Amino acid sequence: MTASSSSPAERRTVALITGASSGIGEATARHLASLGYALVLTARRGDLLEQLAAQLGPHVLPHVLNVAADVSVPGDRARLVKAALERFGRIDALINNAGIGMYKGHWWDGPDPLRVLDVNLYAPIELTRLVLPGMLERRAGSVVNIGSVAGRIATHGMYSASKFGLRGFSLSLRRELLGAGVSVSLVSPGFIRTPLTSGNRLPMPGPEVVARAVADVLLRPRREVFAPAWYGPLSLLSGLTPGLTDLMVRRLMNLR
Ligand SMILES: NC(=O)c1ccc[n+]([C@@H]2O[C@H](COP(=O)([O-])OP(=O)(O)OC[C@H]3O[C@@H](n4cnc5c(N)ncnc54)[C@H](OP(=O)(O)O)[C@@H]3O)[C@@H](O)[C@H]2O)c1
Repeated sequence: MTASSSSPAERRTVALITGASSGIGEATARHLASLGYALVLTARRGDLLEQLAAQLGPHVLPHVLNVAADVSVPGDRARLVKAALERFGRIDALINNAGIGMYKGHWWDGPDPLRVLDVNLYAPIELTRLVLPGMLERRAGSVVNIGSVAGRIATHGMYSASKFGLRGFSLSLRRELLGAGVSVSLVSPGFIRTPLTSGNRLPMPGPEVVARAVADVLLRPRREVFAPAWYGPLSLLSGLTPGLTDLMVRRLMNLR
């Protein structure tokens, strides 16, 4: 039985969500809890995970495991997966959501430019490597990667490098696993109102739009979906009008 073919309420599908302490990860945890999933929630701020789990209510709490961990630390990743397997016996769905944004100035002036790659790209790859053997053995499971429109439209050097990379990883892995019973989907958000975008005054939808897209791809896996959906045509259009996109992105990023 795959996570994509069974209703989570029939037999609780176990979803591991990284970056669940805020924004998109938190909204996804709330949404999947409402759909009857068992949850493994992880982020560095364990206190926020505890608060969230308590808010999910007494009927959900027995089906939630919190693990405070830094996804960029190999030992933390191993501890996280071990704890999840000890508690639930399997991980049906891995949702690679934890991510960090861009340094406000030029990336080459930043203190640790490659940190973005560690968190946004290497950690999802390594976590996938840890959960995949179990999924392949059961011939069942879902990997959902949270990319970005910045993985389609180049914006900030390091952030786009991480999200273009994650997109390539996700699309390739999906193809590599066709017929193996394990699905791989990429959810690419546009601007979403979360702590990550708190300095930005553009009008933005809340993170629930991404949470719903994640729940959708768990039931109906897709190569890539955009959230909100209109970012899909925008991404295509930007490829056809690169000069105009240069002007728009530079203006958006306050580059002169
Ligand atoms: N908001 C947007 O407009 C937007 C657009 C496109 C894509 N995205 C992507 O969506 C994902 C979620 O972003 P968000 O907007 O929800 O941002 P957010 O509210 O800042 O949440 C980021 C989450 O990642 C966790 N995290 C960061 N570094 C971590 C680390 N080293 N180890 C473990 N957890 C870590 C944070 O938890 P702790 O600090 O507690 O560790 C937090 O829970 C990211 O991958 C981001 O790139 C966001």
